[in-house]
Amino acid sequence: MSVKQDQLLGFDEHDELVRPAAEVVEFEETAKRMVSRRGFLTGGAAVGATALVMGSTTLSATKAMAADHPEMSRLAFEMVKANTMDTVTVPEGYKWEVLASWGEPLFSNAPEFNPATGGTGASQELAFGDHNDGMALFSHNGRQILCVNNEYTNLNTLHANRADGVPTTADDIRKSKAAHGISVVEIARRGGKWGIVKDSEFNRRITADTEMDITGPARGHDLMKTKADPKGVVAKGTWNNCGNGQTPWGTYLTCEENFNGYFSSTNKSFPLTPQMKRYGISHDDWGYKWAMADSRFDLSQEPQEPNRFGYIVEIDPLNPNARPKKRTALGRFKHENAEVEVAANGHVVVYLGDDERGEFLYRFVSKNKFVAGGDNSDLLEEGTLYVAKFNDNNTGMWLALTPETTGMTEAEIAIYTREAASKVGATTMDRPEWVASNPNKAEVYCCLTNNKNRGVKPNAGGDETPAVGPNPRVKNNFGQIVRWRPESQDHTAANFNWDLFVLAGNPAVYDDANAGSKNVNKDNMFNSPDGLKFDSKGLLWIQTDGNYSNEKGFAGQGNNQMLVADPETGEIKRFLVGPKECEITGAAWSADRTTMFVSVQHPGEKGDSSWPYGTVPRSSVIAISREDGEMIG
Ligand code: FEO
Ligand code: CA
Ligand code: CA
Repeated sequence: MSVKQDQLLGFDEHDELVRPAAEVVEFEETAKRMVSRRGFLTGGAAVGATALVMGSTTLSATKAMAADHPEMSRLAFEMVKANTMDTVTVPEGYKWEVLASWGEPLFSNAPEFNPATGGTGASQELAFGDHNDGMALFSHNGRQILCVNNEYTNLNTLHANRADGVPTTADDIRKSKAAHGISVVEIARRGGKWGIVKDSEFNRRITADTEMDITGPARGHDLMKTKADPKGVVAKGTWNNCGNGQTPWGTYLTCEENFNGYFSSTNKSFPLTPQMKRYGISHDDWGYKWAMADSRFDLSQEPQEPNRFGYIVEIDPLNPNARPKKRTALGRFKHENAEVEVAANGHVVVYLGDDERGEFLYRFVSKNKFVAGGDNSDLLEEGTLYVAKFNDNNTGMWLALTPETTGMTEAEIAIYTREAASKVGATTMDRPEWVASNPNKAEVYCCLTNNKNRGVKPNAGGDETPAVGPNPRVKNNFGQIVRWRPESQDHTAANFNWDLFVLAGNPAVYDDANAGSKNVNKDNMFNSPDGLKFDSKGLLWIQTDGNYSNEKGFAGQGNNQMLVADPETGEIKRFLVGPKECEITGAAWSADRTTMFVSVQHPGEKGDSSWPYGTVPRSSVIAISREDGEMIG
């Protein structure tokens, strides 16, 4: 297909064009049975067999409590109504402002953003990247440093200087590579307004050309070697950085997601290996055209370059000269985020989703233990990767990926992680997006955003995708949030119990499984939960990246949005609605918790937005606070 078509499509639509699925139909009887049999919410009750018996009873009681006794709700604000306005809407008593936008200079020697051209390679290298996504804030001697992922770009917007947004020159590619990666910026609230501290020594851009060390089992392996790096130890750059993580030792984790979409082949008969196909690498890129100016993106010239991407990258935000480290021990797949927990026994646990239809949910357990005040800088270099198996009876277990269980070497497990997970019989999931761990108890949540292929066809590795367990709906359009509790409150335990916290849907249109679970109603409904984060009080913030057509099955759901949930009662309220054609993603809080930072990504991705400045739409991080200055999380 032409680049022009590509660039007008969202990711899902592009994917649909490349890999079409069957028409959406009503759910099958089995899905209905699954949904009605199992309560979707068990509140504080134990999950497992108990959930099957008391699930819906508990849920009814919860709903009654929330409806009859609003004073008992922990969500003390008036819910924002779904809408399709081209602005951000927050509850009465709250306000928002833009903190930083794509193209904003980080240094005083950089030119101001040029909306007519979208800037140049040189200006972009000194400016805030595009499509801000996951983020984390670090406090240091009273200063606040924000790390923000810059996931990808819209060609039409980025390449406003070119006809139809088609990158044409080497400088266009330089700009595109610099618009990706991570923006590290010091921020401050001055004169009551949040903004970037220009020229801070912490300000830094990490892009698709920044050198970084390869660590862990894949370091130096033959599969990692290229002409430019014959030892397989230094990778150039990171891109498509989606969600994030934050370690207790003060580093930032950035997660490489759709890394495959940047590779192409000038030789259209170049033989694609089964492993390349499993990761979606093909002869054509997604319109970025990086191979035009950098031969490492041409598979026929550098077939092993893709093996060096699809990892978690660890960054020290306080040391602008420190080289980022690719942590191959955490596996190679389309990483969403990296939720870090220190287990009671001191091992570091990282929960990781692979965001692709029918792929898996993972857990990394470090070999060594976290030592408070000690040197924890390489805890992510060595450990064991596990993949989740969910049983239909609300139990589950973590299956270790080792040479013994997979017949693969440790390096092969790190590089071809999807293949390893398929070998041990992991559960195919409905696109695992962000994972969030409850700060008040050993309980973890994961957004399963949607999966039109559920029950329709196997994943790219040939694994079946039956509509059972935590993925109960065939052709799942709305998504759900699964949660699990590790045995003995131990994040390193082999076993867990699970249930579904919410099954998104549209009760105004459907009265079957598409209506969603009982904590979804006509006022708070949404689709495609994606971003997920707990605040310090233990409330769960849910962000959507879904269908914003406001039509048919999605009628009444409006633009993408952010909701907040009480994990104990299951109550969910809409807190924010984004501008047109955006997604809402990523969250961080100021050190004093009076400001919440949120990413508004790709407003106007199809051309219908001028947010936030009334000119070209620009992805931006916004700062939300209460009018009375009280805490917000
Ligand atoms: Fe970049 Fe799965 O979202
Ligand atoms: Ca996402
Ligand atoms: Ca998504």
